[in-house]
Amino acid sequence: LSNMLRAVILITLISFVHSDESSCISSCSTTSMPQCGTWLSSERISEAAGTYELGQGVVNISCVFSSLPRPATVTWYHRPPSSSSWSPFTCSTKDEHISCSTSTEQKVSSVCILRTSALNMTGSYRCEAKTDNGDSTHTKAMSSEVPIHVVGIESVRIVDKSLRAGYDGYVQAEVCAHPEPEIWWTTGEGLVKPGQALSNFASSHMAKSIVRSSAEGPARVVPYCFQLRLIVRNVRKGESLSLLVRSHGEVSTTRIVSSSASLVLFVPLVALLLRLF
Ligand SMILES: *[C@@H]1O[C@H](CO)[C@@H](O)[C@H](O)[C@H]1NC(C)=O
Ligand SMILES: *[C@@H]1O[C@H](CO)[C@@H](O)[C@H](O)[C@H]1NC(C)=O
Repeated sequence: LSNMLRAVILITLISFVHSDESSCISSCSTTSMPQCGTWLSSERISEAAGTYELGQGVVNISCVFSSLPRPATVTWYHRPPSSSSWSPFTCSTKDEHISCSTSTEQKVSSVCILRTSALNMTGSYRCEAKTDNGDSTHTKAMSSEVPIHVVGIESVRIVDKSLRAGYDGYVQAEVCAHPEPEIWWTTGEGLVKPGQALSNFASSHMAKSIVRSSAEGPARVVPYCFQLRLIVRNVRKGESLSLLVRSHGEVSTTRIVSSSASLVLFVPLVALLLRLF
């Protein structure tokens, strides 16, 4: 009887504090049945494992938790490859449904739809549920985890270049792609691969892109991005150069300079116009 009385007082207290959600509270105890807690009831996680196209893939994962005394709060977590820390992420759309009860367990289902719009979405995913006991303690449960790979060419940028006719020049490019891309420079003398040289052209090897928050600060690797540089000896007038990138069967061509004079004039003009407006 005293247990029941305690439970009634607890419920009354809790309903007083959270009167707006009183229909979502059942009684439970840390020492006797029914016990307070959070349990995974079902999940649709491991079925989603696999490779998704950048910009096209849709990951569809879900989990259902039951809990006492209140409905659990469900949070979705992501862990990048070769990292040990999980961080919360925002689903492209999250559909959450709570079934309330005043006598049995609460149920929360959460469906997370994730559009694979960036390469850094690669990694493991899982959901976690946390339930407040109402006395500043809580219980937790989590789903299993699923590995997701996002593949494709995210960007090809000419970061810097100097190509004045009659002088030695260079082109610095950054390519963000997964898996690691194959790259060719097309030159007047033919194709040059990273680490190769022709008589007037030489390409560096690919190196992982890094950023520094300050000059003295530590370098951080930009995931999935690579830098490379083409060295040009004695740039000729009307030199024609481009960059071919291939990753996961996808091919992209980026024109650096073209022998057509109109394009050489047109590109800086557009850049100037963009800067003005
Ligand atoms: C996610 O998967 C569930 C179960 O297979 C399906 O009913 C639902 O329509 C899917 N949602 C989307 C947006 O694809
Ligand atoms: C992931 O990449 C996108 C751009 O593709 C960037 O905006 C975002 O900040 C990156 N997220 C992380 C956690 O690095």
